[in-house]
Amino acid sequence: MKVVLKNLTKIFQSRNGNGKEVIAVNNFDFEIPDGKLIGLLGPSGCGKSTTLFMISGLLKQSSGQIFFGDDDVTNLPAEKRGVGLVFQNYALYPHMTVKQNIMFPLQNQKMPKAEIMQRVVEAAKLVQIDELLDRKPSELSGGQQQRVAIARALVKSPNVLLLDEPLSNLDARLRLQTREEIRRIQRDTNVTTIFVTHDQEEAMSISDLIVVMKLGVVQQIDEPQKVYDNPVNLFVAKFLGTPPINVFRGKIENKTLYIGDEKIMKFDHDDQEVYVGIRPEGFIVNDKGVLSTKFVSREVMGRDSSVVSKSDASETPIIRSIVDSDKVINPDENGMVHFDIKPNKIFVFNRETEERLLSGVNTKNAEEAPVAETPVEETVTTEEIPEVVDASEAPVEAPKKTTTKKTTTKKTVAKKTTKNAEEEK
Ligand SMILES: Nc1ncnc2c1ncn2[C@@H]1O[C@H](COP(=O)(O)OP(=O)(O)OP(=O)(O)O)[C@@H](O)[C@H]1O
Ligand SMILES: [Mg+2]
Repeated sequence: MKVVLKNLTKIFQSRNGNGKEVIAVNNFDFEIPDGKLIGLLGPSGCGKSTTLFMISGLLKQSSGQIFFGDDDVTNLPAEKRGVGLVFQNYALYPHMTVKQNIMFPLQNQKMPKAEIMQRVVEAAKLVQIDELLDRKPSELSGGQQQRVAIARALVKSPNVLLLDEPLSNLDARLRLQTREEIRRIQRDTNVTTIFVTHDQEEAMSISDLIVVMKLGVVQQIDEPQKVYDNPVNLFVAKFLGTPPINVFRGKIENKTLYIGDEKIMKFDHDDQEVYVGIRPEGFIVNDKGVLSTKFVSREVMGRDSSVVSKSDASETPIIRSIVDSDKVINPDENGMVHFDIKPNKIFVFNRETEERLLSGVNTKNAEEAPVAETPVEETVTTEEIPEVVDASEAPVEAPKKTTTKKTTTKKTVAKKTTKNAEEEK
């Protein structure tokens, strides 16, 4: 079942009477497609749980609407919404067996005993705990308890499954295993699921779509890889990826992007101060490379190795670049290492707004930019990506025809237009 959030907002009044209110969720507008797993991602306090509680009906929104399919459930009480909920502290009843815990939500429903049992066994099988039905929660591992909680949420055949940090009590290995299991269960049941986490890797690995939130405001919604490849702002760029993105202070001057005093590449945009983000995998060691940093150390990590270096222009204390383990790295006589940068791994942000800037597009006029007029290809060749300023300084990457994702902050505009154009055909 699809779930539609229309301008969903929650404002908490202050408790200590100083009149300050908290906008926990600010105008959340999103149509969650039927049968998908959505990862709701963001730092502590950004409004993830508040969003889930409003969808479940346990918390009343301040404004906005919620639809399940075509039904407006905005004012429907929680028990009538058909929602399965799993919380962080999955709160099993300790005095009840696994079986009794799972059947608990069905007890108030007038359902024949045989059917209740059948459903309990089905749900238990789905999460692979059907051998454990007669045990008490204290006799189960953390992962097994977690699965009991999921079975309990599934037993009512919910319209929507809401999982709030369901793995946070598990150790790393069990966490990995259980998240795979959640993905499998979600695929098997095809129930529309929202999975809340502050762990970006977790969200990226199992979600069909991720929603990145900051201070109650949705920053970006897209497929995990697309968000990683095309972050709309510095916050999103920094939030996704391990090791995290390297951030430098830079500037655009005369259509040229600089980091410190070094010319990095052509960048067709107004002169301004910027932040430059470079993904760790975006560095290519090259003695004549466009970016120089001070070598600190090299850490071998099997197939790859990580070069740790420093730069006065760096926002982050160290710069971490992932390079091939076979690659010889010889700092020059001044202890500097030099890199070229893969064009699809470098992002430029306005220093003040921290919004992403795209070369060749004046974002102020992005609505009128060609994106809105003509359908755009989703991919471009590196040949179309701004070249390095001086070819003698070695290209950012040789102009071979590798394809990279087209970068556009107005992705939704581009997509819609493409779609409309297709429909018109
Ligand atoms: N009952 C409440 N009264 C006042 N403020 C609240 C209340 N519940 C939550 N908040 C505030 O609303 C904001 C969002 O809280 P929420 O619990 O949704 O965050 P979260 O993203 O789930 O964080 P976490 O990852 O820590 O669980 C926070 O600033 C929080 O302090
Ligand atoms: Mg929370």
